[in-house]
Amino acid sequence: MASDPSLTKHWDERYASVSSEEVSWFQADPQVSLRLIDSLPLAKADPIVDVGGGASLLVDRLCDSGFNDVTVVDLSAQALHESRARVDDPKVEWVVADIRHWQPTRQFALWHDRAALHFLTEAADQAHYWSTASASIVKGGHVIVGVFAQDGPTMCSGLPVHRYDFYELAAAMAADFDVLRTEHEQHVTPSGAVQSFNWILGRRR
Ligand SMILES: C[S@@+](CC[C@H](N)C(=O)[O-])C[C@H]1O[C@@H](n2cnc3c(N)ncnc32)[C@H](O)[C@@H]1O
Repeated sequence: MASDPSLTKHWDERYASVSSEEVSWFQADPQVSLRLIDSLPLAKADPIVDVGGGASLLVDRLCDSGFNDVTVVDLSAQALHESRARVDDPKVEWVVADIRHWQPTRQFALWHDRAALHFLTEAADQAHYWSTASASIVKGGHVIVGVFAQDGPTMCSGLPVHRYDFYELAAAMAADFDVLRTEHEQHVTPSGAVQSFNWILGRRR
């Protein structure tokens, strides 16, 4: 199936019209992600993918920490262009792709996703997401996903989202992953609003 040009346009325009430090999901310090990543037995050469990474500063922090095989995937070329302007590092691969159709050609030791999965509101897209994650994470590798919690926003960036409680999140990945940890986060947006997130860390069986 082809990716959706209107969705790509939506995200490209969003990133082009609002500074990436002013979007609601901006984090100067991706604390939860980094804490969960720090808890894992990762070698610096282990491949990491940030799915729906947008213009997040996580890639900067991973490179600063010495990780030398980082892939950032996003629908928006505009978002990746911004990140690349900050981190022009040959150790990073930038992939413009729709996660509903992306077919990775390699495997990763860690799949990280903050605030992308919840935009998949169709059951078939959610199932495809988890089968792609399963196929592209090495056995014993890890997945970290953060999504809006059941008391989180119903929309983001003008788009509807699917909110998750821990049970649904765990059930979605249960076929191939053991759940190691869950966390709740109250994200404070640049305008001071509070958004409720649920995080899950799993290990690929
Ligand atoms: C709320 S932003 C989060 C960005 C980043 N993870 C962060 O924490 O700053 C959601 C991101 O998901 C991307 N996205 C949305 N739907 C997508 C899809 N179907 N495939 C790939 N990326 C998608 C958007 O372009 C956007 O960069």
